[in-house]
Amino acid sequence: MKSETMAVLLLVLLLCAESSIAQDVFSPSIDIIAEIEKLKHMDERIQKLEEALTNVLSENEALKTLVQESQNKLETVQKENEAKKVAFSAKLLKSGTGKTGPFNGLKILQYKKVFSNVGSAYDSNTGIFTAPIKGAYYFRFYAHSHSGTTMAVSLLKNGVTKCSVFSWKPVSNGNGSNGIVLTLEIGDQISIQLWMKTWVYDDPAGYTSFSGFLIFPL
Ligand SMILES: *[C@@H]1O[C@H](CO)[C@@H](O)[C@H](O)[C@H]1NC(C)=O
Repeated sequence: MKSETMAVLLLVLLLCAESSIAQDVFSPSIDIIAEIEKLKHMDERIQKLEEALTNVLSENEALKTLVQESQNKLETVQKENEAKKVAFSAKLLKSGTGKTGPFNGLKILQYKKVFSNVGSAYDSNTGIFTAPIKGAYYFRFYAHSHSGTTMAVSLLKNGVTKCSVFSWKPVSNGNGSNGIVLTLEIGDQISIQLWMKTWVYDDPAGYTSFSGFLIFPL
């Protein structure tokens, strides 16, 4: 029915457009039935094309969604990979030579000269390292002191002593170093504490330092 209506419309158009064609239409040489058949075929083809186009459009939408999802996933993976890069190293004095301590109370050492701080997990304003992701971490500290006063330094996890170095009133000077592997949760804090009435010494050669890095995430 639809193609028949189209055929009639086409005929009217042809009649209006050119009188010569109009004459042809009524001439017996034009097979109206055949023309209508052709139009029917055209209509069927148009319908098929429409269906194909609809399919292509919905496939296109599906592809767009897929691309967006892949992009989001990629960004998440990139962020996760960034978070996996954690490494820092710092020494006590930003410049110059001198002792830190003794103090009447406990003191968190603030290592001021930062050599590296990938991932910014170490804060030189507080001396505290905060784990950005769950994982196995390695920490190491080295302490140096001069004679006369005890050197006593500990590594603390969330305020609890984990390992220490100690040199009781060294004759000329004292050195101590310790290292530890710890599994940390996000937000766990590592710091180095100077014990009461003890001291450490640092100079441009970097005798008192604190370093750490993520070995692998867990
Ligand atoms: C401590 O280390 C420094 C630097 O390596 C060294 O000069 C000094 O002799 C060491 N002190 C002792 C008591 O071994």
